[in-house]
Amino acid sequence: MRSRRQPSRRHSVVNPTALAELKPGETVLDLGSGGGIDVLLSARRVGPSGKAYGLDMTDEMLALAHENQRKSGVENVEFLKGEIEAIPLPGNSVDVIISNCVINLSGDKDAVLREAFRVLKPGGRFAVSDVVTRGAVPEALRRDMLLWVGCIAGALDEDDYRAKLNAAGFEAITVEPTRVYHVEDAREFLSGKGVDVNAIAALVDGKFMSAFIRASKPRAAASACCTPACCS
Ligand SMILES: C[S@@+](CC[C@H](N)C(=O)[O-])C[C@H]1O[C@@H](n2cnc3c(N)ncnc32)[C@H](O)[C@@H]1O
Repeated sequence: MRSRRQPSRRHSVVNPTALAELKPGETVLDLGSGGGIDVLLSARRVGPSGKAYGLDMTDEMLALAHENQRKSGVENVEFLKGEIEAIPLPGNSVDVIISNCVINLSGDKDAVLREAFRVLKPGGRFAVSDVVTRGAVPEALRRDMLLWVGCIAGALDEDDYRAKLNAAGFEAITVEPTRVYHVEDAREFLSGKGVDVNAIAALVDGKFMSAFIRASKPRAAASACCTPACCS
């Protein structure tokens, strides 16, 4: 049985094909692809006329992903080494961006969302699973809860997530909670930090959640280009 102190690293089981409604022929990019399972699932869904990229910054995860690819026999896949804050792909080259529990780890979420917007084709979809918070929580408790959830760089409040997506240029932004964390789940961890869990329950309960976050790059986005080179 899973220890309560250690919630699943995979906060919500993502079926990328369901989350992003992948179609044959599409190009998909998984930000922070880890062992590559979502990339392989996506590659099968988009078929041989499509392609799935996985992007990760660690050699260990890339090695695991390559090993999983080899075992799966799926060919329309490429794993890239790099950071999600500086995606090593050209602008307007990707139909769908997926990601599971990675963007909350970034210390520069604005850069991640700007880069996601840049690489998406006009009309492209952003469909990720991430941890978000809802409403005000005293700062020390917020830090403790996010540490427990595993968000070392801090999760965004759902309204801030929407605002950052909007600032990056996205439209049709939705945040759909998939799992709400309750203070009881974190009781052992918080007690170990000297927190009186009964006293703070009302301040924390229901304010931390995994969510599907979806948004689109406007179809007219390409018209913002001023030179032929800027869309290359
Ligand atoms: C919690 S794991 C999630 C892996 C995978 N998405 C999954 O659902 O199993 C986070 C992954 O993101 C990668 N990662 C974290 N921050 C990153 C960054 N700034 N750029 C690229 N990869 C990053 C880590 O190396 C790790 O493989």
